[in-house]
Amino acid sequence: MTAIAPAPSRATLPSLGPGLALIGDSWQALPGTFPVHDATTGEPVAEVSNCREQEARLAADHAVAAFAVWRATSAWERSAILRRWFDRIVAHEGELAHLMAREMGKPVTEGRGEVKYAAGFVEFYAEEAKRLGGETVPSQFPGKRLLVNHKPVGPVYAITPWNFPAAMVTRKVAPALAAGCTVILKPAEATPLTALRLAELWLEAGGPAGTLQVLPCADPVPVSRVLIADPRIRKLTFTGSTEVGMRLYAQAATTMKRLSLELGGHAPFIICADADIDAAVTQVAASKFRNAGQTCVCANRIYVHESRCEEFVERFATTVRALRVGDPLDPSTQIGPLVNSEGLDKVIDHVRDARAGGAEVVVGGGVISGNYFEPTLLTGTRTGMKIMDEETFGPVAPVMSFTSDDEALRLANAVPVGLAAYVWTRDLGRAFRMSEALEYGIVGVNDGLPATPQAPFGGVKNSGIGREGGRWGIEEYLDVQYISIQLP
Ligand code: SIN
Repeated sequence: MTAIAPAPSRATLPSLGPGLALIGDSWQALPGTFPVHDATTGEPVAEVSNCREQEARLAADHAVAAFAVWRATSAWERSAILRRWFDRIVAHEGELAHLMAREMGKPVTEGRGEVKYAAGFVEFYAEEAKRLGGETVPSQFPGKRLLVNHKPVGPVYAITPWNFPAAMVTRKVAPALAAGCTVILKPAEATPLTALRLAELWLEAGGPAGTLQVLPCADPVPVSRVLIADPRIRKLTFTGSTEVGMRLYAQAATTMKRLSLELGGHAPFIICADADIDAAVTQVAASKFRNAGQTCVCANRIYVHESRCEEFVERFATTVRALRVGDPLDPSTQIGPLVNSEGLDKVIDHVRDARAGGAEVVVGGGVISGNYFEPTLLTGTRTGMKIMDEETFGPVAPVMSFTSDDEALRLANAVPVGLAAYVWTRDLGRAFRMSEALEYGIVGVNDGLPATPQAPFGGVKNSGIGREGGRWGIEEYLDVQYISIQLP
């Protein structure tokens, strides 16, 4: 493939957000800054404030002060502000999609979809805020009344990843705010602009000072150290790698914080002998190549029943060849660059390792230019190759055949992570048996894109703890308080 032609819209640069840090309700231009790079050209596009210990301490004070007021604000008022935030996010869809295209290379058309997804969490939790009732529990003692209430856990420290710069922010922040918590957000080093713009929209919607603060930083360690050690911060929520998640889990134990960890996956996509192959091809492509393969729930290893493997590979190859690689600012682009050279190096390493082990490249297989990697289809892959044993986070689809449902399940479950898995079958009994046997937090049955704001998202084993989305997502920000009343 030849080098990628720049989109005409690359010449124009709409608002790149305030580009600072949001502490309390003021935009702070710190003396120390760090650059945000255009993922496609590598050029710096903005400078943002580089927060360190001092800013973390200040933000914690603001979060604690704001919490005292926000928790006492009626659910109706919190809901109305969230609803106005939703309206503003929707109204700025194009601008937010553009920011994401610049800072992490997500194609704008896909970015518009992410903005809708991100706004969906805000809309859902604006509604949920009003439904946080309690319960009464019958007592065996006639003179007692037992009440169970929900209370916000307190100020929250949220760490979000670069692969969904908008949706992972709202998936954490919206339920926290709806529950009555305040949030200090540390966006990924690569993608602070979208987070800052979302926070600006929150203030415009009437979000009170200190309820949402954003601390960009080039090195997350000093900020995290302060906030995790601070006993007033009652909850830590993190999306990112299993390795970092485990470290944060240990650190958070010292102040006994509530914790949600959404960590790595390595999703198996099982196509059974009776599957509708055309539908499976369409959906596996949507799952595998979403965000150029850089999502935790992307199909990462494709297992096809031996009786259908040849047919599947032939049709899938046609789909993969037709994917449009290009400038993320071009609305027709389906695959953009990888986020950075480390991401690219991992993909190159996985493909090289698979080829050395005997895998065959059916489509793609190489670097195009910069951080672009060709959409790739490999066959003849097997357990023991890096690509079948680890998360690749790139546009490479490895296919392996299997002979029985038991074998497919054994292969699917033989990894230390358990976020998302997929099964393709027309047999209802098999659909139930296989989905129940899969050790995963999310299972898509004939569905390659199961994530949605009203459903629980999260994994088992090394994929983390807790759930985001739906009513489960707001429970993560609520403590249960039981009140026993002895009648006089
Ligand atoms: C992720 O990659 O963690 C998020 C994917 C999604 O919400 O669909």
